[in-house]
Formats: sequence, structure tokens, C-alpha cells
Amino acid sequence: MSTFPLSRRAIVAAAVSLAAPMAMAQAPAKLRVGFMLPATGTFAALGAAIENGFRLHLAEQGGKLGGREVEFFKVDDESDPSKAIDNVNKLIKRDNVDVLIGSVHSGVAMAMARVAKQSGTLMINPNGGADAVTGPMCAVNIFRSSFSNWQPGYAIGQAMAAKGHKTAATVTWKYAAGDEMAKGFKEGFEKAGGKITKELSLPFPNVEFQALLTEVASAKPDATFAFFAGGGAVKFVKDYAGAGLKKNIPLFGTGFLTDGTLEAQGADADGVLTALHYADGLNTPRDNAFRLAYAKAYKMQPDVYAVQGYDAAQMLGIGLAAVKGDAKNTAGFAAALTKATIDSPRGKFTISKSHNPIQDLYLREVSGKENKVVGIASKALEDPGRGCRM
Ligand code: PHB
Repeated sequence: MSTFPLSRRAIVAAAVSLAAPMAMAQAPAKLRVGFMLPATGTFAALGAAIENGFRLHLAEQGGKLGGREVEFFKVDDESDPSKAIDNVNKLIKRDNVDVLIGSVHSGVAMAMARVAKQSGTLMINPNGGADAVTGPMCAVNIFRSSFSNWQPGYAIGQAMAAKGHKTAATVTWKYAAGDEMAKGFKEGFEKAGGKITKELSLPFPNVEFQALLTEVASAKPDATFAFFAGGGAVKFVKDYAGAGLKKNIPLFGTGFLTDGTLEAQGADADGVLTALHYADGLNTPRDNAFRLAYAKAYKMQPDVYAVQGYDAAQMLGIGLAAVKGDAKNTAGFAAALTKATIDSPRGKFTISKSHNPIQDLYLREVSGKENKVVGIASKALEDPGRGCRM
């Protein structure tokens, strides 16, 4: 072996030959994730919780999904369906995102799904329950980490009938989410022998409830079913109690009526019964760990929206791992996800053929600012996926 010092040239040559394979093994391009969520309006807190949940899972994965670092692009969709096509095109055409995450409002989610289907862009919907998204609009590249509007509506309809109530009034916002949750409720309630005696609604996002509450009082149903969420849910539950209705006409709803809202609703929410795919005090090791991590990161308790955001990130990670980070391989992504079991804080769930969670719907009762589990309203409930052809 030579003991002569290496010439400059030899050192340069050695450096080049070492660097070449390193350059070839460069890190993959960052995954471009587009958040299309409400940052303003009655659903603003819901959008924030979804983003928090998503980021928590990403942080737990060391900042990578499917082996790729993540870069975020965001639009405030204002829960406004009339702006949704423009907004989603900003993410797809201007920001060139690999995946769309959104949205909260059913009408916005439908517009996103339409564009995602045409463009083939991977989309995971972390809330918007529009049945059509995993029904007639279903596609190989479109997934939901949340629910279909039919699911919690149907479950609480069955639960209300099981409590012995025979007649019900329904009160909702007049748009896809309200219409479809009330329809699911009706299906579950009537199948179990109940009858809807009054159907009431007001335009989204109005909160002038007094006239509707007067109608509920004069219709005298055994119980009321309601869908509202976010700021609107806070006001409805307070107004229902304030009108003196709660004692004689118990209030039921899909769980959005009391999720993420209990601090503001206070004692007016006590006793409200709802069905949802999440609850407080599940007390499983998985949920306890999630709640602790979330509280540590954000200094507040998680809600169903946080869980849906967290699981959107989990689903993205599982699907991308199977296709080695290639977000364009939507067929491979879908094949992996429809075989997977998602280890969610809500409890384990699977993904249906139409790409909607098959999940337990808990029956919850509000007590002491918590949505306490009092039973399972519907076990492993699968949306029928009506109209989905894939
Ligand atoms: C919806 O529009 O689909 C929607 C919005 C808020 C919720 C639930 C569903 O809490």
C-alpha cells in the first residue's frame, strides 16, 4: 500500500465517484397536500380540528407519508359551494397538488369530488357527508375518512325508536347534509315503527330558530331530531332549551349537534342523545394515547373532526406506502386501502367498496360537558353506496 499522500486530483476523483451514487439516491420530491377546508364562518373550528388531527399523525410519522416529506397548500373554502370549483382548481392547477384533503360542507365536498373525478387527483374527504361522494360520484381516486350523511341519521333513527318514541319532528339546515341526515333518520325510525309528523328546515347557515321551535312546540312530537354543526349547533341547542322544549320533547341528533360544542352549550346540552362514530371516554388504549398527544400538541381536547383529520392522514400513509409514494397510482392505492384495517382512535374500521368507512355508530348522551357512550346505536354500519359503479 502506498504511503505517499494522495494528490489533489486523486482526492477530487474520489469525491466525485462517492457523490455520484448519492445524487442518484436523492430524496423523492415532497408530497404536495392541498387542504381545502373552511377557515372562516360557522364551520371554521371544524376545519381547524381536521388540520390539527392530520398534522398530528404526520408528526407521529416523522413528517413523512409513503416515504415522502409533505408540503402543504391551503385555501379557505368558506363552506361556500358557489366558490368550490374555483377553489379546488387553485389547488390542482396553480399549486399542482398530489392529493386533495377536504372538505367540511357537503356541497363543497361534492364540487371537489366532481373535479377530482375528472382530473384523477387523489382526494380524501375528512368530513363532508354528501351521500353522492361515495354513491353516484364514487371513483377509484376518491375516499372518505369520515361518514356518509345516511350513516349517523339512520343510526339515531333506530335508537330513537328503541327508546319507545313513536312520533318525531325533524329540524335541519336545508342543504345536502341536512336533507340526507333527515332522510337516513326517517329510514331508521320508520323501519322500527316510528312516524315523522313534522319536517322543518331553514337555509344554511341561518340561525334564526324561533319560528321553527314554535312549530315543534305546537306539533307536540314524542321527540325531535336535529342536524346542525359548529356555531349553528351551539345556538340551536341553547335555543331549544331556552324555549322550554327539552323537558317534554327530548332532543336527539346526529352527533355533530354536540361535538366540539359542549364548552359553549354548557348545561343546555345535558341529556341530548346523539349517534356518531366517535365519543368521549371510549377509554381504549388507542384513543387515550391519541387524546393525550392531541391535548399536548394543541392545548385542547380532540373531537370527531380531529379524528377524521388524523385518519385521513393515516389512510394517505397506508395507501401511499403500498404504491411507494406514487400518488398517481390510484388503482394500487385503492387496492391497498380497501384491504386495510384503519386503527383509528374511534375504533378499528375498514373501507367499503365505494370507499366509505364501515364503522360502529355510538349512542352518546351529553353529561358534564362530555358525549358519554351509552351504547352502540349501530354496529359496523356500512353505507349502502347507492348508485356507486366502479
Ligand atoms: C356536511 O355538510 O356534510 C357536514 C357539515 C358539518 C358537520 C357534518 C356534516 O358537522
